[in-house]
Amino acid sequence: MELKISNITKKYGDKIAVDNVNVTLENGVCALLGANGSGKTTLMRMIAGVLGNTKGSISLDGRNIEILDSAYRNVLGYLPQNFGCYKDFKVKDFLLYMCALKGLDGKFAKKRCEEMLLKVGLENVSNKKIGALSGGMKQRLGIAQALLNDPTILILDEPTAGLDPKERIRFRNLICELSKDRIIIYATHIVSDISYIADRVLLMKAGRIVADGSTEELLNIVKGKVWSVDIMRNELESYQNKYSVGAISDSKIKDVNVRIVSDVKPDEKAIEALPDLDDVYLYYFGEVAEVENSN
Ligand SMILES: Nc1ncnc2c1ncn2[C@@H]1O[C@H](COP(=O)(O)OP(=O)(O)OP(=O)(O)O)[C@@H](O)[C@H]1O
Ligand SMILES: [Mg+2]
Repeated sequence: MELKISNITKKYGDKIAVDNVNVTLENGVCALLGANGSGKTTLMRMIAGVLGNTKGSISLDGRNIEILDSAYRNVLGYLPQNFGCYKDFKVKDFLLYMCALKGLDGKFAKKRCEEMLLKVGLENVSNKKIGALSGGMKQRLGIAQALLNDPTILILDEPTAGLDPKERIRFRNLICELSKDRIIIYATHIVSDISYIADRVLLMKAGRIVADGSTEELLNIVKGKVWSVDIMRNELESYQNKYSVGAISDSKIKDVNVRIVSDVKPDEKAIEALPDLDDVYLYYFGEVAEVENSN
């Protein structure tokens, strides 16, 4: 399977939200990583076929998705970023309703709903009203509804938002389990989500894809550019003004140890450090990535 995104651009008035994106997705997990406002949701909504583009086209195995229309929607699962659902619906009734919208019928639909509730660990709240669920539970319900039609293309916009660390691990395992023979694309600004499961990472900045590769390939970009240096606290501000400073931790030698991403060695005493994805994020965005359970 091949989902080809060609020259996709989206403008809101004069604002270019997605700027001439070209990317071909194949089976596996592709993470779309970018800071707030970088265009992730806009791109995903176009891929999900719920937002028209200003320019460009998207095709599945050589056929335009607009022409495929319902045949495309039948193979698609989509979890929108602000997944709102009817708070007065019972969990199982909501899923049955979503089945009906997806054209799944009677007995099969009922069985599918039960399977999906088990898969996301909501089987014990199937009779509860959605309004009574926690944020993380609602998010899991969102994942369940995206999976009802056993989609071969799964689009997840910030699927781990609101999940606690245990739920996050469960989600990662679920994605790994699902990733065979499917295209999974998910947006996040949480780097640690990616390290575990993404086969490919697209870094998005100001509407453009600025880096594209496996985790190893992205780490290679910053190889030889990540430094660890011990400094006095009163030097910190000048370092922060001059360099992209990542993690700051206690130092045994001086006041603090700082991690710096820089093309040039920032200090004689700086030691080269092994890069991780946080460094890649810092290199491209000039800011520290969000940590796992901060949203
Ligand atoms: N309906 C809209 N009308 C006008 N501008 C919009 C609209 N939707 C998005 N934008 C703008 O387009 C840009 C990209 O937004 P988008 O929501 O796609 O980013 P994002 O990467 O998903 O951000 P976040 O991490 O906050 O979810 C932003 O500057 C945003 O303000
Ligand atoms: Mg978004």
